[in-house]
Amino acid sequence: MKTIYLLFTLLLLTAKTNAQIFFGDDKRNATDSLFMSLAPTPPMGWNSWNKFGCNINEALIKEIADSMCSSGMKDVGYNYIVIDDCWQVGRDESGNILVDKKNFPSGIKSLADYIHAKGLKLGIYSCAGSYTCQGRPGSRGYQFQDAKQYAKWGIDYLKYDWCSNEGQNAEAAYKTMSDALKQSGRPIVFSICEWGENQPWKWGKGIGHLWRVTADIRDCYQCKFDWGGVGVLDIIDIMSELYPYAGPGHWNDAEMLEIGNGGMTSDEYITHFSMWAMLSAPLMAGNDIRTMDAESKRILTNKEVISINQDPLGNQARKFMDMGEYEIWGKELKNGEAAICFMNRTDKEWKLNYNWKKNPIYYMQSINFYTKEYQIKDLWEHKYIGTTEKNTTYNIPAHGVLLVLLTPKNK
Ligand code: GLA
Repeated sequence: MKTIYLLFTLLLLTAKTNAQIFFGDDKRNATDSLFMSLAPTPPMGWNSWNKFGCNINEALIKEIADSMCSSGMKDVGYNYIVIDDCWQVGRDESGNILVDKKNFPSGIKSLADYIHAKGLKLGIYSCAGSYTCQGRPGSRGYQFQDAKQYAKWGIDYLKYDWCSNEGQNAEAAYKTMSDALKQSGRPIVFSICEWGENQPWKWGKGIGHLWRVTADIRDCYQCKFDWGGVGVLDIIDIMSELYPYAGPGHWNDAEMLEIGNGGMTSDEYITHFSMWAMLSAPLMAGNDIRTMDAESKRILTNKEVISINQDPLGNQARKFMDMGEYEIWGKELKNGEAAICFMNRTDKEWKLNYNWKKNPIYYMQSINFYTKEYQIKDLWEHKYIGTTEKNTTYNIPAHGVLLVLLTPKNK
């Protein structure tokens, strides 16, 4: 009798444990799938770092949010306003992160309310190390406490840096914060910013929604600094190998945009934006959108180019022709369409004369120039420039691109 009783108790105990595991797993799966669904297309928004560095405050962030709406940026899809480094000054005796009261007197919650009322979302920045890159308190040892605090404030996006990482394992460090965000009770997009040092494209999917693949961008077309800064072309070269790793919910982050910051020519900025669109890279404006000139606005709000970036298939463009300084990139889109970008890296005009049938795009399964005719639309001039039955001729400016959309003529 005693043995039977013991066996029964044991059975009950196991059943209880199984049920806990089952329901626990169920809950975890639901949280994971909610988390995975947060960035079906590359996130779009604005980040304070490139233009303002540590010179940030609540008035600036509010004005940026206002301009986001009045400039038409919100209408074309930019919705995250991300406060980068320097909003935080310390921790209280319970370990809670303290906001810089001088620059953010109303606190982050009130800023989040302001931004949400405009139909926008608020992002914030922290670091996997003990200190951020500007020596502010990082989240190491406080991940769960910080994530809860962000959720309480109404944060929608976290950029998480890698300074003072003290030799941690990157995947484990980012997974800890990812778990903390998943348990925070609020959907928060997670932007992994470890500069590509530990090949985050190999482990980032499921942990975060985007991962930086390079050191910090500089406002230049091609430049490499010994401390790690890189220009637009250098980033494109790094991105070119990473197409297998991007897709809905998980993106290679080519860095924030420099359009409007003054270091490049208009053609170079057009290349920057066109290629970020082709590469399915997050589009985070990094300029002062309150005062941007008409040309910067024209570039940043080109709807047709943005829809290449936001295409639901989430394919990252591949380079299918590399003729030294002339490159041709292709991206398959929904409905059997494709975007092609001819990129001229030289200092002289490229007199393009392109025969579509002679140069089939070998990796594009859905595109066939022999059986279908495609209409060709120039996405910067917004006009049709022929079909794939005839050669495309075009003078592509120095450091510029020809970006076209191919649409099957008779669907
Ligand atoms: C690092 C990041 C930048 C920016 C700064 C802030 O350099 O890569 O994008 O966030 O830190 O200190």
